[in-house]
Amino acid sequence: MRKQVTILDIQKMKAEGTKISVLTCYDYPTARIMDSCGIDVILVGDSLGVVVAGHENTLPVTMEEMLYHTRAVMRANPRALVVADMPFLSYQTDLSLARTNAGRLIKDGGAAAVKLEGGANMAETIRAITMMDIPVMAHIGLTPQSIHRMGGYRVQGKKEEQADQLMADALAIEAAGAFAVVLEGIPQKLAQRITGRLAIPTIGIGAGPDCDGQVLVLHDILGLCEKYSPKFVKRYADVSSVISDAVNAYITEVKSGEFPTEAHSFN
Ligand code: KIV
Repeated sequence: MRKQVTILDIQKMKAEGTKISVLTCYDYPTARIMDSCGIDVILVGDSLGVVVAGHENTLPVTMEEMLYHTRAVMRANPRALVVADMPFLSYQTDLSLARTNAGRLIKDGGAAAVKLEGGANMAETIRAITMMDIPVMAHIGLTPQSIHRMGGYRVQGKKEEQADQLMADALAIEAAGAFAVVLEGIPQKLAQRITGRLAIPTIGIGAGPDCDGQVLVLHDILGLCEKYSPKFVKRYADVSSVISDAVNAYITEVKSGEFPTEAHSFN
């Protein structure tokens, strides 16, 4: 019988030294493919605002959009643990709103956990959501929703003071009840130190090989989004060319009358 991946499995993987594989996903067909490959965690990331909707950054993403994409992923009935991102302004302004929106991603979206950005400043929010028995994945370092404070997508924690703050953030998140934390865009050595100090798993993106798991944006590994090409991305396929070749072949065949044939027609 197929066994659903739970937050307990993810935490056990850290204890056993098994690396955790995480990818973003925003739709039904991709969720089916990814799940059949055996991905551990599917993240319905607010990166969808950039790679699917074409925005400049993740700030315009709404709760309704996150719910729409989370539901689409859930229709694939994935075995993987599905974590849904809380978009900008869905949790920062007050605890009650944060709790309601986290609940909506579980109740209306069907996700098993939520992710939110922030460290010690979000500890109270993480505690409030986990008190509702909703598992929270935290996210520190280069947090895309903080683009204006950071002055762009820059590596965080290079200076000692910043690194100490990130360590304090990681400890505060763990104490607040987060079940895992994404470490994005921080020096490899700092990620290694944080991973060693925390009992909960660290999921790295641009944080080196010593994290307990890795996450990347699906469109980046498939070569489907040329907008940003961060150093930490590894491209595993050139799906843009595959799509171009298919679309070009279709256009050519429609123009020449080669498609459709008898085989594609009804009598
Ligand atoms: O939104 C997203 O895809 C993310 C990952 C990059 C961690 O937050």
